[in-house]
Amino acid sequence: MKNVSGKTAVITGGASGIGFGMAQVFAQAGMNLVLLDIEPEPLAEAADTLRAKGAKAEPFTVDVTDSELMAQAAEASIKAFGAVHLLCNNAGVNVMGPFNQLTEKDWDWVMGVNLNGVVNGCRAFLPELTRHGADAHIVNTASVGGLIGMPNLTIYNASKFAVVGFTEALRAELLEVGVGVSVLCPGVVRSNLALSARNRPDRLKDAGTDNSADASAESIEMGTDPIDLGRHVLQSIQDGEFFICTHPEFREVLRARGAAIDAAFRGTPDAAGLEAVNGMTRAF
Ligand SMILES: NC(=O)c1ccc[n+]([C@@H]2O[C@H](COP(=O)([O-])OP(=O)(O)OC[C@H]3O[C@@H](n4cnc5c(N)ncnc54)[C@H](O)[C@@H]3O)[C@@H](O)[C@H]2O)c1
Repeated sequence: MKNVSGKTAVITGGASGIGFGMAQVFAQAGMNLVLLDIEPEPLAEAADTLRAKGAKAEPFTVDVTDSELMAQAAEASIKAFGAVHLLCNNAGVNVMGPFNQLTEKDWDWVMGVNLNGVVNGCRAFLPELTRHGADAHIVNTASVGGLIGMPNLTIYNASKFAVVGFTEALRAELLEVGVGVSVLCPGVVRSNLALSARNRPDRLKDAGTDNSADASAESIEMGTDPIDLGRHVLQSIQDGEFFICTHPEFREVLRARGAAIDAAFRGTPDAAGLEAVNGMTRAF
């Protein structure tokens, strides 16, 4: 999608951090905005801020884990602006701690928002996006945590690797339809992610040992400005890039990871095996 002006973007988790950063950049580029978020007050404030700068913005309070509500949000978005061209499945949460101290409810909550939320967004909006073919794009927010595992992040890593895998498969499926697909894999960005527990539903609360607020608050404060991140995302959409990698400090470690996978293979493939693999995958 090269020309974004006058088109409509839907952003989940649009009230804060990376989502609001993207919203401000897209609005500046002339897009209409639909912000979906679970937190009504910051959501209303975010929409007011965009409107005060002359953008058209509609807020809808939605929990991305609720597929019914997401379907209703899709209908409402189309009704508000006549069409949706860009979907950013960005809402996410984090729970940190050693694996043996994390609970079943920790897993259910983080996987529910970070993975099922992305799937629900795609399911709800894909019929509308495919209607526009090459004039439509999906950006799913993963993380560098979707490309490399780190201590104390088993749940977050699992959810974000799943988002990368899901998005990569979706890209391969949508190549023929023309809808662009990207996966956003940032490092540390200034946001309220360390305070994720503010949005944890009562039924998934427990006496677990989540230490994400202590462990990541300071580093997130020192992170990239979400507006700069939003600019990078917009450029990557226009350039049709699948991986949106915003933090070059992770480049070396990801190279080493790729090299470790490469070094793990033994022998050489036969022609039939290669042909079968080429049939199953879609090259970048
Ligand atoms: N901040 C970072 O360093 C960083 C790095 C890599 C990836 N990410 C990812 O970026 C995305 C945005 O996070 P952020 O850092 O801007 O944090 P944030 O907390 O500032 O923003 C997340 C937004 O998602 C909303 N949200 C949470 N649960 C929701 C739900 N169930 N339904 C709808 N909305 C919900 C929150 O209310 C909030 O507005 C997340 O997917 C996160 O995992 C963040």
